[in-house]
Amino acid sequence: MSGVSEACVERTLGQTLPHFLVEPSYLRKVKERGAIWRFTMKSLNELFEHTLQDVYYAENAITKALPKVAKAAKSSELKKVAEEHLGETKDQIKKLEAVFKSIGKKPEGEKCDAIEGLIKEADGLMDEASGTALDAGLLAACQAVEHYEIARYGSLREWAKLLGHEEAHNLLGEILDQEKAANSKLTNLAVSKVNKK
Ligand SMILES: [Fe+2]
Repeated sequence: MSGVSEACVERTLGQTLPHFLVEPSYLRKVKERGAIWRFTMKSLNELFEHTLQDVYYAENAITKALPKVAKAAKSSELKKVAEEHLGETKDQIKKLEAVFKSIGKKPEGEKCDAIEGLIKEADGLMDEASGTALDAGLLAACQAVEHYEIARYGSLREWAKLLGHEEAHNLLGEILDQEKAANSKLTNLAVSKVNKK
């Protein structure tokens, strides 16, 4: 979330600040003193839009991470799955842009700490693992990302329905199905070939 919105700023203790306390000079003073602030969303619509920005950021980050996975993997099947999912991810970015358009918003990303953490773990694995541990670990890292995405798209799809965003509901459902299929493909590959003692 960029900037400071007076309507949604709250103190760490959860109390809504009186209006006069959130004027810019006050905020500057609080920041200088190192006070902790948090931003909240008050409506499902705000939460929906924020989470949409999160997954938009995440999908773009995934397009940069997948080529690294494909390059590092030793298994030709795992390389292929990573490469195929890169194409699907690019398609999902277009679908998300259509979701933004359908609700009258510009596509924007909001830094997603969850995906940053998952990608960081995969990067660490590439430095630390070798042999059978590398492919099994990389595949598991890809599944952690898929599970994260399944959770997010499952929520987004239902919120879209509740908010009456029919086109968004359908598009998010399509992405959710793609993520579930990618996860199943990874499970099959892990069980049949990649997981070895
Ligand atoms: Fe995705």
